[in-house]
Formats: sequence, C-alpha cells, structure tokens
Amino acid sequence: MPASAAPTPARPRPLVAGNWKMNGLEASLAEIAAMAGGYDDALRGRVDLLVCPPATLVGAAVAACAGKLAVGGQDCHPKASGAHTGDVAAEMLADLGAAYVIVGHSERRADHGESDAVVKSKAEAALRAGLVAIVCVGETEAQRRAGEMLDVVGAQIAGSLPAGASARNLVVAYEPVWAIGTGLTPTPADVAQVHGFIRERLAAALGEDGAGVRILYGGSVKPSNAAELMGVANVDGALVGGASLTAKDFLGIAAAYRSQ
Ligand code: PGA
Repeated sequence: MPASAAPTPARPRPLVAGNWKMNGLEASLAEIAAMAGGYDDALRGRVDLLVCPPATLVGAAVAACAGKLAVGGQDCHPKASGAHTGDVAAEMLADLGAAYVIVGHSERRADHGESDAVVKSKAEAALRAGLVAIVCVGETEAQRRAGEMLDVVGAQIAGSLPAGASARNLVVAYEPVWAIGTGLTPTPADVAQVHGFIRERLAAALGEDGAGVRILYGGSVKPSNAAELMGVANVDGALVGGASLTAKDFLGIAAAYRSQ
C-alpha cells in the first residue's frame, strides 16, 4: 500500500434488529426478557441488538430488556403532536425509552401509500426526537426483473434520507420486497452489489460519515443463513421479521457475529 493511501475506514459496529410487525401481546414480553438474558458479554462485545415491538409494547419492552437491548418503534408520524388520530409521534416513542424507529418499511410504503417524501419527513421526526432512524429501501420482484434494482434503491435513498443525517443517527436497511417473509433471499453477490451501491450513495450524500452508517440486510434472515449474509461486504447487520419473534431464533441470528 503506498504511504499516501487513505486508511480503510473502520467497519461500523453491527446491529441486529427485530421487527415484530403487528405481532405480540403482553405474554410475548417473556421472549424479550429471554433475548436480554441470552445477550452475553461475548455477543455484546461484537453486535448491538434492537427489538421493535408494536407501539403498544414499547414501554413494557424497555422494562423487560433491563437496559440490555435497545428498543425501537416501527413507524412514527412526522409531527410531534396534534390532531392525527391513531398515529404515534417519535417524541412519544422516545418518552417510553425507545432509541430507534423504523421508517419507510415496504409494508408501510405499500399499505399506507408512503412516498419517499413522507418517509423523509418521518426520518426527520426521528432525528428531532433524538431517535436513530432506520430508513428502509428495496425493490419489488417486478423492478428487479426489469433490471431497475439500483435505480429504485438509488431514488429511495435520494428521496428518503433525512436532513442532518450522520453515522450516529441513521441506519439504512436494504430489504428486497420479494424476499420479505417468503423464504427467498438474494445471492451474496447480489447483496454485495446493492450494499456497495448504497455505501457509495451514502458517501456521496454524507461525505466521510457515509462510511460509518450501518447498512442492514433484511428479508428472510434466519439462523441458518445469517452467517453467510452477515459476512457480505458492507452488510453491517440484519433487519429481521419472522425470526425475531422468538429469543431462540433471534439470538441464533446474532450468533453469526460470534465468529466474525
Ligand atoms: P422477514 O421480514 O424476516 O420476515 O422476511 C423482514 C422485514 O420485513 O423486516
């Protein structure tokens, strides 16, 4: 290496995040307590763990974690308060002890028609409330077949990143829509291509900080495929749906970091 070459930026500390979606009743808090119990010192030395239960359980989840895991919300409204029946503000999640919030998940983009501009305003609300925003992007099966994968992800990144983003307050999750809940996953080479592309876009948008933003892969991550997916360049953790509902599977995914 020539003496003038820039040092390789340190790899961001990985994050394994569980997205419980619309699943979980009070009895499910036992799983969160078991996750906290299984998050031993060896694992803690290598990976951050986060669980995002439904909003109804965020406060109780914070208590069940006993400060060991981070807790997050799955969505927030752009505004801090007001006449928005049924919505939850980022400030309300922070008030319960949440540290993160997912915004722009493909299920919200599809079910609630959320545009990139809406996702951006939600991510900005997260930052305003002192939360880390997990901004989700990813192409549909039809878009992938049409070869539009990078165009779609690039446009989502350009349109959804919050003003004021940094490596400390932003996480990006790449979740190909066709891989969510289907048992299908892209090949490691495909994941490497998209994550490398996202890293370039983050560097262009955020300068040096772009190297420190965690880029999670999501879509059918399981204990059996986690080590391979987490070993791909620029994959800094996982956003896990179905397999995050039990402590056994969630810790089984986190265990991919024991040997990395
Ligand atoms: P899955 O969901 O792990 O069940 O595929 C991932 C997600 O939607 O975040």
